Amino acid sequence: MKELDPCTIIIFGACGNLSRIKLMPALFKLEKMGRLPEKLAILSCGLELYTREEWLAEVSSMLEAKFAAGLDQHTLEKFLTRHHYHANPPGDDASYARLKMTMEDDPTFPANVIFYMSVRPSEFPGIIDNLGNIGLLEEKCGWRRVVIEKPFGQDLLSAQTLQAGLYKHLDEPQIFRIDHYLGKGTVQNIMVFRFANLLLEPLWSHHYIDHVQITHSEKLGVEGRAGYYDGAGALRDMIQSHLLQLLALIAMEPPVSMSPEHLRDEKVKVLKSIRPVTQNAVHAHAFRGQYTSGTIDGKVVPGYLDEPGVAADSVTETYAAMKLFIDNWRWAGVPFYVRTGKRLPEGSSAICIRFKNPPKELLRNRSHDTSNPNWLLLGIQPNDCMKIEMQVKVPGLDLNTRSISLDATYRDDADEDYDAYEGLLLDVMKGDYSLFLRFDEVEWAWRVVDPILKVWSMERGFINTYSAGSWGPRGTYRLFDRDDQFWRHSLNVDGAKLEPY
Ligand code: BG6
Repeated sequence: MKELDPCTIIIFGACGNLSRIKLMPALFKLEKMGRLPEKLAILSCGLELYTREEWLAEVSSMLEAKFAAGLDQHTLEKFLTRHHYHANPPGDDASYARLKMTMEDDPTFPANVIFYMSVRPSEFPGIIDNLGNIGLLEEKCGWRRVVIEKPFGQDLLSAQTLQAGLYKHLDEPQIFRIDHYLGKGTVQNIMVFRFANLLLEPLWSHHYIDHVQITHSEKLGVEGRAGYYDGAGALRDMIQSHLLQLLALIAMEPPVSMSPEHLRDEKVKVLKSIRPVTQNAVHAHAFRGQYTSGTIDGKVVPGYLDEPGVAADSVTETYAAMKLFIDNWRWAGVPFYVRTGKRLPEGSSAICIRFKNPPKELLRNRSHDTSNPNWLLLGIQPNDCMKIEMQVKVPGLDLNTRSISLDATYRDDADEDYDAYEGLLLDVMKGDYSLFLRFDEVEWAWRVVDPILKVWSMERGFINTYSAGSWGPRGTYRLFDRDDQFWRHSLNVDGAKLEPY
């Protein structure tokens, strides 16, 4: 394994949720696995005034909250020696100059620097400007990399404006636009599955595939994030980023090589080939909904409008579904149905690929099921799995058929379990940007959703609702091209039966 360069990780927004729940635990796990460079310092920046001791206590408490089963004390001690704190209170203009002095004069901090923007999207352009203006982004004595969380802009235009601001101080290879879905092992497995298994290739096209469904469902509501979510909505929050990335991986052509540029070139080609949804076709291609009060796991939960911080007349969607067509040689005419929702009955992500019916259904009347095409199912979470549904003869004297599931669950109990952020942070340290978004990917993804956002933003008088704990608004079924297409809610074999709503 190539040794990693010494480096300093500077986390802006280190006291916030993302840092508590994801970044600190991921760095701790990397420490435990011995994957961090020996010379790595973590400098947390936050609005609060902490002494170093207070900050170390804070980091310990973040980790204790995350690893309730117990922390390895030896690892913790080593991990804490890496941590330092820099107060960056609002209005304190001198804080960037102090940061620069610390970085230049204190040998504790290696000269290669990762700046992690774990702050609200509206805040990072200002931070980058400050860092750039004071010279902290210049690669004079070490490299500089900046990690930016989604959402990258609110729409195409704002994303382009944001980008222009970044290019004043940074070159494209220095910018790591993170989409944590690309750090999930099962998502990377889509590429292995497709490009290391030749037997699938001849089937992977409109000749054999009827349609593709990509679903991300959550039991959770907005969980105190209304400040961000009410201005974003499900289409921006999940579909423009994570789910369009999944679609690109499923649909892309084999890249020339697995190099970052070749991979991203192929994903961009898919996004470019998505048929634009014209404004008057929005209702035929997209559907939105908002949850009302309901029951999840036996507990009554409030409706979206009653969540703290949500505007009383909000029409922000907590459920969004789309039908997209990829107008290229491989996928002509195959609908890709994409949906996501909060407060649904299950928390899961999956890709379900339905094959066409045989050209002549010789055994149609022998089936125990109403509909029996083949399905290929890729479960992303909570359990990563791969299943293929096929027809077999029911044992017995008569020639009847039924569906069975070939379950190729590939995870062994002993397999390493890791969070997406662990791998992605390691990639930033390595300088490998394969699993990060290039700006043109972001732009093309905005082009896909922009017309829908535009129409929805004008229709402020009404939004369909669904009860928390249900699978979303009934009207979403109008997106389907045919009566025998329906949302697949489960990866179990009986989930393939036409599901009553
Ligand atoms: C985030 C969204 O990017 O992804 C959240 O902002 C969403 O709203 C989350 O809940 C889902 O991620 P995961 O890894 O839990 O599927």
